[in-house]
Amino acid sequence: MDVKRLRHDSWADNSKFMAERVIPLVDHRTAALPVPQAPATLPSGVLRDARGRPLRDLRISVTDRCNFRCAYCMPKEVFDSRHAWLPQAALLNFEEITRLARLFVARGVGKLRLTGGEPLLRKGLEALIAQLAALRTPAGRPLDITLTTNGSLLARKARALKAAGLERVTVSLDALDDAVFRRMNDADFPVADVLAGIEAAQAAGLTPVKVNMVVKRGVNDDQIVAMARRFRGSGVTLRFIEYMDVGATNGWRMDEVLPSAEVLRRLQAEYALVALQASAPGETAERWGYAAADGRHDPALGEVGFISSVTQAFCGDCNRARLSMDGKLFLCLFAGQGYDLRALLRGGADDERIDAALVAIWQGRADRYSELRASHSSDAARGRRVEMSYIGG
Ligand code: GTP
Ligand code: 5AD
Ligand code: SF4
Ligand code: SF4
Repeated sequence: MDVKRLRHDSWADNSKFMAERVIPLVDHRTAALPVPQAPATLPSGVLRDARGRPLRDLRISVTDRCNFRCAYCMPKEVFDSRHAWLPQAALLNFEEITRLARLFVARGVGKLRLTGGEPLLRKGLEALIAQLAALRTPAGRPLDITLTTNGSLLARKARALKAAGLERVTVSLDALDDAVFRRMNDADFPVADVLAGIEAAQAAGLTPVKVNMVVKRGVNDDQIVAMARRFRGSGVTLRFIEYMDVGATNGWRMDEVLPSAEVLRRLQAEYALVALQASAPGETAERWGYAAADGRHDPALGEVGFISSVTQAFCGDCNRARLSMDGKLFLCLFAGQGYDLRALLRGGADDERIDAALVAIWQGRADRYSELRASHSSDAARGRRVEMSYIGG
């Protein structure tokens, strides 16, 4: 069975990450990489990057705003009233987004994820979803369209999102205990409303619902088993995410990362779990299923996932690209700069020119930050990193 197991020894030397680093703040929104010239010949088959990885997954960030202030993503001290949010005119409009998405789909993308900031804060989002849902792959298949949300507006919006053509949602939820949750979101938002949002999403058929829990050692790791207990057998897939050094503002320290192997150990003290196969190439999560009394996976009990970018990098088959709300294309979550596709769109480029740009950009891609993290050799490791709230998760 081709299942990699979580190991304790995969991150042997933490020491160089233990000391706090001073990271320069750079506004990645104003700088952009030049869009490369069109290649001499355009490939007709699968588009592959410089490491042979296909382009399958496009994450589209639709707003830089969020009503939460999770310290690992938008710390209050930085994202305060002095923060310069992007003006409406800087954002891609829905027609621009859909045009780009159509060109990406023609080049192999089959999965679209809407993100933010908090995507449900973008006015009229249902209209964008309806436009995206009308797109088809070259083989004529509908796309897998999903959305990452903090769940705060989900109870209100779930049915309209489904009606617009959204397939499923992923909800970020870091704790069940109300006090811990309010501390995590740092906006005093009650957990009950997010739980109601998850239930509304299930009732509306936005399934399978996934819940993403970022685990910070000493902050919310006491919630791991309670979260598992809550969602086991509920139809919701809970995924544990290692706290990452993404962006340049969260003051990340290795000693606040709880390795997935440790999360798994704590779960196994309560429940029998069996390793499952990856369901798709390039998947972020390692999957484990709850076992029945016979020791085999019981689908009715469901599964959990581990997203272990820090201790077990998964860059090898990374097929994800990210489009910021103002039209920059990022090839890695840890990139410092993106390619300015909005300039092409608004400069009057035709579809052929934009397609050629996508091909040239993807063919030149060699990013694998998580794999290189240990060596500290890339620009990204030196701190010129984009914020996750700008390009989405
Ligand atoms: P599904 O299709 O629902 O399985 O989603 P997914 O796991 O592909 O995407 P999701 O946005 O739910 O990813 C969950 C979390 O994994 C994100 O919030 C990030 O923390 C992390 N993550 C996602 N993609 C990447 C990536 O390309 N690199 C790294 N390092 N982390 C990622
Ligand atoms: N580490 C890991 N995941 C993060 N996210 C944001 N910041 C981080 C971080 N520092 C992810 C979480 C959240 C989503 C919106 O972005 O999964 O649910
Ligand atoms: Fe908002 Fe999600 Fe970032 Fe939290 S993790 S601040 S909910 S975008
Ligand atoms: Fe992909 Fe970059 Fe994440 Fe590696 S670190 S999996 S290349 S986005």
